[in-house]
Amino acid sequence: KKTLKDVDFKGKRTLVRVDFNVPLEDGKITDDTRIEAALPTIKYLVDEGAKVILMSHLGRPKGKVVDSLRLDPVAQRLAELLGKEVTKVDDCIGDEPKEAVSEMENGDVLLLENTRFHAGEKKNDPDFARQLAELAEVFVNDAFGAAHRAHASTVGVTEHLPSVAGFLLQRELNALGEAMENPGHPFVAILGGAKVSDKIGVIKNLLDKVDYLLVGGGIANTFLLAKGYEVGDSLVEEDKVELAKELLKEAEEKGVDLVLPEDVVIAEEFKEDANHKVVSADSIPEGWQILDSGGPKTIEKYSDIIAKAETVIWNGPIGVFEMDTFAKGTNALAEAMARSSARTVIGGGDSAAAVKKAGLEDKMSHISTGGGASLMFFEGKPLPGVEALDDVE
Ligand code: 3PG
Repeated sequence: KKTLKDVDFKGKRTLVRVDFNVPLEDGKITDDTRIEAALPTIKYLVDEGAKVILMSHLGRPKGKVVDSLRLDPVAQRLAELLGKEVTKVDDCIGDEPKEAVSEMENGDVLLLENTRFHAGEKKNDPDFARQLAELAEVFVNDAFGAAHRAHASTVGVTEHLPSVAGFLLQRELNALGEAMENPGHPFVAILGGAKVSDKIGVIKNLLDKVDYLLVGGGIANTFLLAKGYEVGDSLVEEDKVELAKELLKEAEEKGVDLVLPEDVVIAEEFKEDANHKVVSADSIPEGWQILDSGGPKTIEKYSDIIAKAETVIWNGPIGVFEMDTFAKGTNALAEAMARSSARTVIGGGDSAAAVKKAGLEDKMSHISTGGGASLMFFEGKPLPGVEALDDVE
């Protein structure tokens, strides 16, 4: 795909899709990683003398204006990080953005309002996409986190403008691509999260690539059930038990070691201060539920496998890590990865949050800024936002 280096940006109105979908609490940004991650592209464009028009979605406002999801706090934070004025307008199409763009000097930075305030964004409505594209002469996609969405601001605009990849998008594709296409062995994947149904495609794709698949979290419960264990009140997907059995068989046939928890932390209630204890995974009493797949034996086993790995990819916590009582397994995995000399790649979303919560982000080779996007990548599927960019001739 074409990149920033393929374009002369001087004086060009440049529409840049970034993923500024950051967590907010009471109007304050609680994690600005995604804004920081976009800085290399923005700074480069500023230095090249482009007129930088940024756009992003924030949250899920369902095609209507939601005041709490305006991008003003983002504009403010971006201005601080850039050390430069950032103009913010209150819509992403129409007269206000047009006028603001017409007043821009080379090197100026403008932030449009939340693209999802218009229903046309998610529908990839051609007219909405055209109105966005009309603001600019060239398009840069740097929103890896939104690259799995075929929306107007990620795909639609590419119909109208020369379209290239930004530095963050490139960095993500290189890091994830290198791990998936050219891994050192043993290649270990850790999959957690709540539901098997979200991860079927990923598991299938990984079974053709990895040497070990360490399973935890809600997914593991369904696998334990498939092995004939009782899992009490644990979160399971009864209708996925047959599928889990097939996947266990497929793993065996393909020589992949699909590893399940040996012992787990169970609780009487889904509560931080619930009565809890460690039990063997095959003896979960009725009325109890697994809230952390990482009992001490499981942690030891998974950590040993990680220690001898050359490449580790991780998606999804293996317990309810938001509650400290049930975060031990997830933290232990993060620590095992931090200790290992393997190339360690963390899918975005919850696993990235867990690594940050443990303060280990500097110890990983790559932490993706994309949750759903990295999952789709691990699934081996093409990302629509990447596919839509111009190919190098
Ligand atoms: C994310 O946070 O994963 C991306 O910004 C995409 O957000 P979405 O899941 O609301 O499309």
